[in-house]
Amino acid sequence: MAIKAVIGGQWGDEGKGKIVDLLSQDAEIVARYQGGANAGHTVYKDDEKIVLHQIPSGILREDCFCVMGNGMVIDPIELVEEINMLKNKNISTQKILISPHAHIVTPLHKFLDRKNEEKTNNFIGTTCKGIGPCYVDKYNRVGIRAIDIKNQEKLKSIFVDRLNDCTMTSQINDNEYKEIESEIELFFKSCTQIKNYIDDTFNLLFSKNNILIEGAQGTLLDIDHGTYPFVTSSSPFSGGISTGLGIPLTKLENIIGIFKAYATRVGSGPFPTELNDSNGKKLQDIGSEFGATTGRPRRCGWFDGIAAKYSCMINGLTDIALTKLDILDSFEEIYICVGYEYKGQELNNYSELLDLDNVKPIYKKFKGWNTNLNGIKDFNMLPFECKEYIKFIESFVGTKISIISIGPGRNEIIQK
Ligand code: GDP
Ligand code: IMO
Ligand code: MG
Repeated sequence: MAIKAVIGGQWGDEGKGKIVDLLSQDAEIVARYQGGANAGHTVYKDDEKIVLHQIPSGILREDCFCVMGNGMVIDPIELVEEINMLKNKNISTQKILISPHAHIVTPLHKFLDRKNEEKTNNFIGTTCKGIGPCYVDKYNRVGIRAIDIKNQEKLKSIFVDRLNDCTMTSQINDNEYKEIESEIELFFKSCTQIKNYIDDTFNLLFSKNNILIEGAQGTLLDIDHGTYPFVTSSSPFSGGISTGLGIPLTKLENIIGIFKAYATRVGSGPFPTELNDSNGKKLQDIGSEFGATTGRPRRCGWFDGIAAKYSCMINGLTDIALTKLDILDSFEEIYICVGYEYKGQELNNYSELLDLDNVKPIYKKFKGWNTNLNGIKDFNMLPFECKEYIKFIESFVGTKISIISIGPGRNEIIQK
């Protein structure tokens, strides 16, 4: 088995979709292992932009199976919409497979997610896709699994039980019930429409040799290793592959971490290198930093070398793909965070004891290259200052950068 994994190294939106699309050329399967419709992965078919939320980014490759693994939480209503969107573009959806053990997001989960965000004035800033409440039900052992869709009676009975529980515990009142009532019929209809995609994924995964695994979100949003509580409710880091697909980590040949050449974050939570100045605005404008799922503006800042080094360590990254380098083309000066100042002390490594809200980044300054990288195909043809920037990141985090992305298109790539 030659298995490669693509994992978000930062707070999501690093360009995983583009890199998965690129690397899926020879893949027999592309498989997602966690998350759900909170993801927004952008790929291009010719010049047409396609944003995928739940379906793996290998879908543009005709011969490639797209596995939605047991660790995912699947929203049938949104999945049907995504399948229809692809069919309308003449993209075949025949090779999609949903694990029977994946959990199902219901209108109730989405309601609870929305209500919690409203009640707390967007404390986390979730995508309101029902992700947290669905994983709560999973771990509370009261969730609906994809296999239950094959048995309409069981599906309805679990759903009604959950609804009754929520009304009895006043998590939902009569008016609120009306809010979700309108979606229930569509939910059951959509469940029926995705029924035929549910099949054994385990035997397929173990029968193929060339598998590409696609992470959603990013390492710093990991429920265990991210900036808790400002995280998602799954394990996007490499450890999640084992639980979310049943693939032993010893089978992974390459674990490729995707990092933007700067940093972004959507939603709340600490972000030491965030820029609330003209440089931050410039990154947001040139980088079109608006969420692919919610449209929210992404917070922008400089590349955080300390967080990246941590990400490389816990994921066991063998390679890095550095994306959106072109967005830095017109900056006179570029900065990388190489340490944190905390209570008068200089720290050079990430620690679980760190109070990230109160660290001050220590920066190393780089001269910008002030050149358009458009069309460059060979690392040696990059401007001197650009190569220095890349080489510094590589040596600082101790992981080789083997892919450099300089534009959204499949061909705007430099492989080292
Ligand atoms: P994902 O969630 O990690 O798949 O990333 P998103 O799709 O949410 O966000 C990445 C955005 O950057 C998308 O609009 C991509 O088309 C775009 N993108 C990816 N790589 C590059 C790159 O190298 N340069 C530029 N300019 N855009 C890129
Ligand atoms: P992709 O796969 C960026 C963020 C949300 C919020 C937190 C929790 O496109 O990189 P959730 O809805 O998961 O409970 O929200 O996680 N978040 C993402 N940020 N990219 C994503 O996915 C994200 N998925 C969730 O903004 O801060
Ligand atoms: Mg995204």
